[in-house]
Amino acid sequence: MDRNLAIELVRVSEFAALAASKHIGRGNEKAADQAAVDAMRKCLNSLTISGTVVIGEGERDEAPMLYIGEKVGSGGPKVDIALDPLEGTTITAKGGENAMAVIALAQEGGFLNAPDVYMKKISTNTNNEKVVSLDQDLKSNIIDLAKFKKINIKDLVICILDRDRHKDEIEIIRSTGARIKMIDDGDVSAVISSVLTSSNIDMYYGIGGAPEGVLAAAALQCIGGNLEGQLLFNNEDEIKRAKKTGVNDFNKIYQLNDLAMGDIMFSATGVTDGTMLKGIKITKNYAETHSIVMRSKTGTIRHINGEHNFDIKQLDH
Ligand code: FBP
Repeated sequence: MDRNLAIELVRVSEFAALAASKHIGRGNEKAADQAAVDAMRKCLNSLTISGTVVIGEGERDEAPMLYIGEKVGSGGPKVDIALDPLEGTTITAKGGENAMAVIALAQEGGFLNAPDVYMKKISTNTNNEKVVSLDQDLKSNIIDLAKFKKINIKDLVICILDRDRHKDEIEIIRSTGARIKMIDDGDVSAVISSVLTSSNIDMYYGIGGAPEGVLAAAALQCIGGNLEGQLLFNNEDEIKRAKKTGVNDFNKIYQLNDLAMGDIMFSATGVTDGTMLKGIKITKNYAETHSIVMRSKTGTIRHINGEHNFDIKQLDH
């Protein structure tokens, strides 16, 4: 893939984040998401690619735009696209932390075509050594991670989504003595934080969206770290959807390379302030954006601050 595409990609996440930011704290998740989708699609269609959305807003009948299978771009190299125009719709509606616009590109076949179901995830950074795994129980993972990091278990911080479905896991973590960071939403950012030495999260664990798992994997292929994911199915309909996307092993534990592989470009722009990105700031004359854009092939990570001198009102809906 042409390396300049990575830089082009920043415009796409910037534009979606700017559009979503008009809805911060207004209590309207749908409007925030729609604004981000519209903006991302418009910008994506100006890229010189022949892109296919493989991780998107849902299936065609439920998502009129950026649906799985939608062709985007103005023509060029064939690429697969994983996107979440607004990761953290509730966060945005409430004005919370860590909402962002995310997009990743890979060569054809580079992403797991994950259905929109839940995925159990575990991520940390053990320099490519397999120390933790969904293969073993949570308590053993915590003990092994502490040993690997040569720190006391009580000094570990495990991040988990604050959900009823995690009641048992939260008890297990507490019983080991480890600390917990509970988040309301936004596990793409949580998985990324779990591999960054600059963050205070040692491991991410728990059940979140499968599409978010693929997006997080795309980021980890660029910055390093370990991630495993296992698709979870609640009913026959979900199994049917999975079969349609080509999944036939329903218990498989996906490794990082199964989720995202090859030459990957990833861009995220903050909507609200977060651990990795600053949110949009609008001043009288311009809007400020903070993005991170990365490439797996070269390991390049760029932090890009933008000052957008256009009339922000053009993003009004
Ligand atoms: P949205 O942006 O689609 O609202 O997703 C936010 C999120 O918290 C993801 O980061 C996470 O993977 C998923 O929702 C968890 O799903 P649920 O809210 O159903 O527990």
